Amino acid sequence: MQFFDSHSHFNDEKFENDRNEIIKLIYKEKVTRTVCVGYNIKQSELAIKIANSVPYIFASVGISPNDIENFTEEDLKKVENLGVKNKVVAIGEIGLDYYWNKENKEKQKEAFIKQIEIANKIEKPIIIHTREAVMDTLEILKKYPVKKKGIFHCCPLNKELIKEGLKLGFYISFSGNITFKNAKSEEAVSLVPDDKILIETDSPYLSPEPVRGRRNDPRNVIYVAQRIADIKNKSLEEIAEITFKNANKIYNIN
Ligand code: NI
Repeated sequence: MQFFDSHSHFNDEKFENDRNEIIKLIYKEKVTRTVCVGYNIKQSELAIKIANSVPYIFASVGISPNDIENFTEEDLKKVENLGVKNKVVAIGEIGLDYYWNKENKEKQKEAFIKQIEIANKIEKPIIIHTREAVMDTLEILKKYPVKKKGIFHCCPLNKELIKEGLKLGFYISFSGNITFKNAKSEEAVSLVPDDKILIETDSPYLSPEPVRGRRNDPRNVIYVAQRIADIKNKSLEEIAEITFKNANKIYNIN
């Protein structure tokens, strides 16, 4: 059995002191693939550096809606240049976040659209971060179709978003947010067919039950997989295999 954590951040400063140690441990504990996700230029460059030094880690590059404060045309050029580098499997995380930032919605939309255009130009899927911005996110995706599709990362447990996202051909990635036992997470997971479901940790943030409150790392993706297995009435092995296959497919990894 092996797991693919579709979204983690070994580039985060919380891993500064023991990054190499944890990277070795995850492989030992069967998390044999993960994508180190960028959210600004500096962290995207670091994601590539990490991916280049570890065979089982891949990278994505992009500017998140919470990092666009001073973004320039030059930064977009950099996203494109980094996007074509070896081991970069997606553009992201990109999207809209009206929870943390409601003052600059137009600017967020502009950055999102321009990075979709980059993804289409270099033929990569996108990793979407969306928070309290369901309608605007869907509107942009309908107006600016993404050629290679992508992933709703840490997908909000919103039925409308999941249904529409699936119709658009996107994958749905669940994180620790489904491990809290409630009807909403059961409903959300049940909506996603086996060939479109992914698991992630978004570590070092969002620790699942039962390790809530501690620093998260990709080893905890097993709790997300177990929760999906319980809801879908399948074995942990099956969910590990399905999500491993799906992640390789969307990220175009052999
Ligand atoms: Ni993230």
